[in-house]
Amino acid sequence: MNDQAGCPVDPAQLAVAVFMHDIGMAFLPVEILHKRDPYTEEERWLLHSHPLVGVELLGRMPRWRPASDMVFQHHERSDGSGYPQGLGDEEICDGAKILGIVESFDARTQERAHRTLTKRPFIRAVLEINNCSGQLFSERWVQVFNDTVRTCTGRKRKPCTEPATPPNSDGVTVAPPGSGRWRPGRLFRLQLAKALVQLA
Ligand SMILES: [Fe+2]
Repeated sequence: MNDQAGCPVDPAQLAVAVFMHDIGMAFLPVEILHKRDPYTEEERWLLHSHPLVGVELLGRMPRWRPASDMVFQHHERSDGSGYPQGLGDEEICDGAKILGIVESFDARTQERAHRTLTKRPFIRAVLEINNCSGQLFSERWVQVFNDTVRTCTGRKRKPCTEPATPPNSDGVTVAPPGSGRWRPGRLFRLQLAKALVQLA
């Protein structure tokens, strides 16, 4: 997304923030990570404190101050409903806005230990991110997210010489183990194109 937007965020700082933003989750009690019932006040506080661990670690290295800010703000939301400070759209740095969208998208498309969300098909996750545009997520960065999805799944991808893999029930073609690449299937691309046309 940062590349797509012309790199307004220092790529090195963003990369460090990506690696560090959820390091605090590793220090949470495993019972919280796997809990299905509603959180108690104390558990919610613990969960909401997870960005502070990354901030604490990065705070020891002044060079990574911008990355630290991104980590600190990655659960802030444009409408002020996020945490830990309840910042508004103007106050949240671009790196944190990118992280917020990407983390939320990842939570929707991957199985997660703490299961705050159940796994969705790729296209549904794209639509859900768009439904939160201007509320949870910045309108500008949701637009960049859409452009990035188009670029990653569209006609610009390089010709692939690897053997074709049939799409799964979601229309998604999963790359063979070890290939390190994900390729959208034809059905998936058609569905995505329709969804993005509706959003345009
Ligand atoms: Fe997080």
